[in-house]
Amino acid sequence: MNRVIGDIPIEPFEEAAPAPLPEQEQPRVLLVDDDERNLLAIATVLEDLGEIVSARSGEEALRHLLKGEFAVILLDVYMPGMDGYETAQIIRSRDQSKGIPIVFLSAVNKEAEHLLRGYSMGAVDYVFKPVDPIVLRSKVTVFVELFAKTKEIERKARAEQALLDANLRANAERLRAEQELRRAEQREAAIIQSLPMVLYLEPIDASPRRPTYVSGDLKAITGFSHAEVLDTPDLWSERLHPDDRERVTVALEARRVSGRSAVEYRWQCQDGTYRHFLDQAVLLRDADGKPVEFAGTLTDVTDRRSLESQLIQAQKMDAIGKLTGGIAHDFNNLLAAVIGGVGLLEKRATLQDEERKILGMTKRAAEQGSELVRRLLAFARRQKLEPHPVPIGALRDAVSDLLTHTLGGLVEIEWRTDDDAWPAFADRSQLELALVNLIINARDAMPAGGTVTVSVENRSASAERPPELPAADHVLITVADSGTGIAPEDLERVMDPFFTTKEVGKGSGLGLSMVYGFAQQSDGAFRIESEVGKGTRAELWLPRAPADHAAASQPLPDDGQVDSPGPLRILLVDDHEEVRATTGAMLEELGHTVAGAANGRDALEVLREGDCDYDLMISDYAMPHVSGTEFLREARELCPDVPALIITGYAEIGAITDRPENVEVLLKPFTPRALEAAIARICSPAAVAG
Ligand SMILES: Nc1ncnc2c1ncn2[C@@H]1O[C@H](COP(=O)(O)OP(=O)(O)OP(=O)(O)O)[C@@H](O)[C@H]1O
Ligand SMILES: [Mg+2]
Repeated sequence: MNRVIGDIPIEPFEEAAPAPLPEQEQPRVLLVDDDERNLLAIATVLEDLGEIVSARSGEEALRHLLKGEFAVILLDVYMPGMDGYETAQIIRSRDQSKGIPIVFLSAVNKEAEHLLRGYSMGAVDYVFKPVDPIVLRSKVTVFVELFAKTKEIERKARAEQALLDANLRANAERLRAEQELRRAEQREAAIIQSLPMVLYLEPIDASPRRPTYVSGDLKAITGFSHAEVLDTPDLWSERLHPDDRERVTVALEARRVSGRSAVEYRWQCQDGTYRHFLDQAVLLRDADGKPVEFAGTLTDVTDRRSLESQLIQAQKMDAIGKLTGGIAHDFNNLLAAVIGGVGLLEKRATLQDEERKILGMTKRAAEQGSELVRRLLAFARRQKLEPHPVPIGALRDAVSDLLTHTLGGLVEIEWRTDDDAWPAFADRSQLELALVNLIINARDAMPAGGTVTVSVENRSASAERPPELPAADHVLITVADSGTGIAPEDLERVMDPFFTTKEVGKGSGLGLSMVYGFAQQSDGAFRIESEVGKGTRAELWLPRAPADHAAASQPLPDDGQVDSPGPLRILLVDDHEEVRATTGAMLEELGHTVAGAANGRDALEVLREGDCDYDLMISDYAMPHVSGTEFLREARELCPDVPALIITGYAEIGAITDRPENVEVLLKPFTPRALEAAIARICSPAAVAG
């Protein structure tokens, strides 16, 4: 039967049964009399009532009382030594024995006075000698039964208490366990609730697919509640991305056989966006092994996917960058030779008009090639950048000027710049070029015309920013249009070099590549968002100019006349024979005398032989065995006073970190005029004096 403690019903527990009490002892009767015959006679009368313990004196009685319990004491009043009264007094004074009923046995003293004394000593009754066996038996029987009853009640009470204790303990234990379970459930629910994941149960043959049970925040990850899903039978299949449909159907079919599935698909959430879900399930069976339902998890893995594709994209750009950089570098050397050679022909040869025209075309083609190479190098992050603080107002004016004739009447630019916009830290002309590229792209995307919005905003270190950027202040330049937009599959490729959707001859596909490389090389970031039919937003993030950098604008290239220093003796080192020949010819054309060397070792030999009798050393940078800077460093030890110039492709500009002091750098390909200007800078009296 169930018992009730408080409000909580409890079932009897196996271990809650009372511990078995010791075998019920026979009630004992203590018989005290100094007369052996009396003892014997009374013991005989009472023997079947219990265990009779005999004592021949008060002292002996007290000893027995120390050792055990008695139902009643029959105490002779008159005994030699300690009499019955004294003995009774001591019995009453001891805790252990004070509750045991005492019956006095007395032959005389039937007077009231004696009886009263006996009662005051704790007697409960008197039996007078000669003892009537029937009276004695009946009196002792009362006490023996009382004792037995008391014992029985005590035993029951103990059993009851033990049961109660056990139940209480078990109950407390169970409450604790229940609480623990509830807490664990709450913890689990909280975890599931906060994960981008739901757990579900789905009938094995549900068609269309609908979960019967969902745990976790389905609404938070899909925008739909479980009730909405149940109300709309086709919801799941309708919102599955069409391109994923076939694959998912196959996977779901297969799981009926294999008993498990893991499939990833795009699914359109309530806000209309497609998110990536990982849907995993296992088949649950009943005790007989019959398939019942699928238990599964649905996890939003969109962030993971986008991080992965960003990583792949970054790796791809890096790989293409390296490849492009290498090719561009070789082309650069070849173009240096072509442009130099054409320049010399123009000066030296007497040509017909027709021939001069052909030469001019050749030269322009080579220059266009050189421009292409420059953009490729920009993409490969190997162009020479000179970052300075660029005030946004000046940037706006320059870009507006550049675009006045390009934009056409249908498109206008709207600038949104804060007055307190920070200056960006970047190479000014490359930044202008990047913006022009973005604005022209925006124009091309709006053939029917529209507005290109260029906004410049400050983004403090605490603001949200692209993950690759450090926590620092940035200037964010955004070019937005409301044009055609870019298809999602193209979006990953627009920054690839040569990716273009424009007609042949209209676009080279290098614009965004250049902007991307420029942003990366400037310690910034470039990203582009677009939606077909709505428009495109290109974001260029650049570092904020450090406060201690004077906001002076960059010196403009000097177009004025160059004061050429008089004929010089020049040592020219270049491992590329054609380049050495054309550069040598250019120098001779300028009136100088040239000694050539194919590598650093030979060149040092020439210096030694010529006793440092040179006015200028010109060396290529990238040469096998001994680099240009290594050569110049040794050359400086031999001939400390001879000025020097390094010529190099864009590709290596980043590598020249160990340029010896007072060594100028000239980038290939260069025109005779640029070479002349560089020599003038190094060898003019002012430069030499400084
Ligand atoms: N604002 C935009 N709107 C729509 N599509 C764009 C936009 N910007 C770029 N694109 C797409 O990206 C492609 C690559 O752009 P990118 O600037 O690199 O090369 P391009 O404009 O084709 O040629 P180039 O800039 O070298 O003359 C474009 O062909 C176009 O398809
Ligand atoms: Mg472009």
